[in-house]
Amino acid sequence: MRELAGRTAFVTGAASGIGFALCRALAAAGMNVMLADIETDALAAAVEMLHDFAPKVRGVWCDVADPASVERAATTSYEAFGNVHVVCNNAGVGGGSGIDDISLDTWRWVIDVNLMGVLHGIRTFLPHIRAHGEGGHIVNTASMAGMNSGLGFSAYSASKFAVVNMSEGLARQAAPIGVGVTVVCPGFVQTRIWESGRNRPQRHGPAVVPDPASAGGRLLAQLVELGRAGLDPADVAAQVLAAIRANELYVFTHRGAEWRAELEARFGGILAAMDRDAGPQ
Ligand code: NAI
Repeated sequence: MRELAGRTAFVTGAASGIGFALCRALAAAGMNVMLADIETDALAAAVEMLHDFAPKVRGVWCDVADPASVERAATTSYEAFGNVHVVCNNAGVGGGSGIDDISLDTWRWVIDVNLMGVLHGIRTFLPHIRAHGEGGHIVNTASMAGMNSGLGFSAYSASKFAVVNMSEGLARQAAPIGVGVTVVCPGFVQTRIWESGRNRPQRHGPAVVPDPASAGGRLLAQLVELGRAGLDPADVAAQVLAAIRANELYVFTHRGAEWRAELEARFGGILAAMDRDAGPQ
């Protein structure tokens, strides 16, 4: 979508981090922006921080894990701004990552938000965009954790691998109806992702903080440090806007040799196994 000005974006996980940076960048590009988030106070504060763009920026409470909540938020957006053109399925949470401390509740919470939340956004808005026929773009926030298994055995990686795959498949199906797709795969970004437990609904059980001395606790401490030294969310947002305009499928925000090496190791291992195992054609 080359022309963004005057059109409307709907962004989930908009009250913090990458989602908020996306909202600011989309509003600065002249779009109406509906901020959707589960954290009420942070959402109100985020809308207030974008008051320079009023009345083209509004907020709506939304739990992406609940399809009915996403539908309601979409209706609020249509009533405020009319047709939606850009949908950023960005809300996400981090969960325990040590092999021994991931409860089933945590698996379900992470999958419900990170994977089903993206699916709910697609199912809600794709028919709408197809019906209005004005074109559109769907942005799904995955992660480098959806490209390699650097985080080890984790619900987070599993959810992000699924988002990458879903986005690739969607891109093929949506292109003929004039809808572009971008999947965003950042490395570490300075956000509040490591405090995700603040938004864990009671139905998914209590937030779990791993024992600092456990393998999971030590890994979490390392990740928090890497996050503090991570990219500015505004840099991620700028790359996403460029990808929407150029209709690029992938956004890799971190191009360092170590990230590349992880991908080469994974893909190299897969191709080597194919070469070894493949029978006669
Ligand atoms: P963040 O914690 O700063 O922001 C996430 C936002 O999602 C928060 O405002 C939170 O209230 C909202 N949220 C959580 N559960 C929700 C739900 N059920 N429904 C609606 N909103 C909900 O974290 P960050 O980093 O900005 O996360 C955005 C996306 O970026 C996530 O998908 C995350 O997995 C992804 N990501 C983050 C990286 C990082 O290093 N920070 C790296 C790679 C990907």
